[in-house]
Amino acid sequence: MNITEQKILITGGAGFIGSHIVDELIKRKNELIVLDNLSSSNIKNIENHLSKDNFRFVKGDVRDVDLLNSLLKDVDIVFHYAANPDVRLSVERPEIDFEINVKGTFNVLEAMRLNDVKNMVFASSGGTLYGEADVIPTPESYPPRPISVYGASKAACEAYISAYCGFYGLNAISLRYANIIGPRSNHGVIYDFFMKLKRNPQELEILGDGKQKKSYLYISDCVKASILAVERHQKGFDVFNIGSDDWITVNEIARIIIERLGLKNVKIKYTGGDRGWPGDVPLMLLDISRIKALGWKPEIPIREGIALYVDWLKKEYGYDL
Ligand SMILES: NC(=O)c1ccc[n+]([C@@H]2O[C@H](COP(=O)([O-])OP(=O)(O)OC[C@H]3O[C@@H](n4cnc5c(N)ncnc54)[C@H](O)[C@@H]3O)[C@@H](O)[C@H]2O)c1
Repeated sequence: MNITEQKILITGGAGFIGSHIVDELIKRKNELIVLDNLSSSNIKNIENHLSKDNFRFVKGDVRDVDLLNSLLKDVDIVFHYAANPDVRLSVERPEIDFEINVKGTFNVLEAMRLNDVKNMVFASSGGTLYGEADVIPTPESYPPRPISVYGASKAACEAYISAYCGFYGLNAISLRYANIIGPRSNHGVIYDFFMKLKRNPQELEILGDGKQKKSYLYISDCVKASILAVERHQKGFDVFNIGSDDWITVNEIARIIIERLGLKNVKIKYTGGDRGWPGDVPLMLLDISRIKALGWKPEIPIREGIALYVDWLKKEYGYDL
């Protein structure tokens, strides 16, 4: 896909990953429209672009079919990043992932079909889509066996996107992300631990037994890998795992954060069990050989990425001992 001097719509473009993708795409003289309802993000993430001629922000929802139809006129590529990103929220309210992720993606696909938009980039999720895989690191060829409704929603989205490629001649690439971390992220284990320790530096509650082991990728590496995979994509439907070669336990993440905040004698309390919440996948490491074969590799090791992100959280939200 050519991603220079194109007209691109980015759903969820005010969010964590989406806004970093925006920062990259705007450098390439693209005309960008960001569609975001700001339900889990802040306009601050894209405010430096708001006055630019080639940038337009539309506060709106992917559930609004008429809005999508009106925005997709003459668009070349859709980057579809809008979703309920919180796996845990769907435990109590499973319909959210269906309405926003599955139906929202269907709405985007239909608006693309009706407006003859041929190219799509989709933000999928490696860990939750594969579920409790018995092959680790897990390659793209592993069958989707999600154990959370969030994972199921991403698998359903991919199935619809694949069908639109086969049926209506769409070209699409699905990027199956590991846990992505870094500035502007406001969810996930590192954010949660930081906020808990900010409230009470003496104690940290860890969900599960802390032995869950997963892979994390720093946002700058994520953006580089995503852009490379998109640029190399030619025709039809393809999927890429985007993650790192390394993984880390929740206990070690806690140790790094406690140390980075200069805390001592923090009492750790575990909620128990082998996972943080129903649907949590305790072990996740993606096989990233396909994306590496394109010439990419992670530049920021996990532990350094966590430290950088914690430093940003301290600056952003304030932290006094
Ligand atoms: N962060 C990760 O580790 C990770 C991992 C795998 C996949 N993903 C996927 O990447 C994408 C971006 O995630 P993120 O971590 O940047 O989260 P995020 O919450 O920062 O970004 C999601 C964006 O979508 C917007 N949004 C939500 N519902 C919407 C709706 N109905 N209409 C319009 N906009 C809506 C939110 O306001 C937000 O700006 C999501 O699709 C997520 O599922 C993220």
